[in-house]
Amino acid sequence: MKVQILPSLLAADYGHLADEIRRVAESGSDALHLDIMDAHFVPNLSFGPDMVSLAQRVCPSLYRHVHLMLTRPDVYSGRFIDAGAQTVQIHVEADCDVWAALQAIRARGVRSGLVLRPQTSASALFPYLPYCDEVLFMTVNPGYGGQSFMSEVLPKIRELRQHADTCGFNSLDIMVDGGINFETAVQCAAHGANQFVAGSFLFKQSDMGAAVAQMRERCEKAYGTNTR
Ligand code: DX5
Ligand code: ZN
Repeated sequence: MKVQILPSLLAADYGHLADEIRRVAESGSDALHLDIMDAHFVPNLSFGPDMVSLAQRVCPSLYRHVHLMLTRPDVYSGRFIDAGAQTVQIHVEADCDVWAALQAIRARGVRSGLVLRPQTSASALFPYLPYCDEVLFMTVNPGYGGQSFMSEVLPKIRELRQHADTCGFNSLDIMVDGGINFETAVQCAAHGANQFVAGSFLFKQSDMGAAVAQMRERCEKAYGTNTR
């Protein structure tokens, strides 16, 4: 599996958003992660489709990866796809027909992803694996950047990787999001994660490109050691 690093725009300096988006593009990152919050599914509001459009306008070649923390992602996913989202992730705990919502995302030619809160068991997403391209394990309670990594999620990452391998979903991307730095990224990689979202850790770096390269290298090594 390819290791990928995705800076989360939530941690950017909002006074210089276009420059921050360019900084991600120039860092060698694989995608820009955009966190969409509705103050209902999570206790915070962030931004909407206009931010996805801005990213497309500023750096058209930077992949736009959208994480919907919404009670009704089925109602809004189309607007984010219209705005330029190339992957749309929804939560398995959302108040909608998850199967239909994933199908609707794929029907627009966009990659679909399913996200779990830290408290949700990995088996909750097993029935949906044929309908999603990637799974995101939240390693903090969704809603805010800058929180501490929850190591209790690690066994679930291994459980899903083993289940996916056993059931023939060998190309499933497994992603982690929340409290990711060099050390926690390596722990997740050793448990079978291959994609890493990092907000505050990467944006606080004076040289984001060097940090992205180092995180990728460390995770590639650790992923190789993951015992399934
Ligand atoms: C939290 C978001 C994360 C957040 C991560 O609800 O899903 O993407 O930006 O921020 P850090 O890396 O600072 O924990
Ligand atoms: Zn996120």
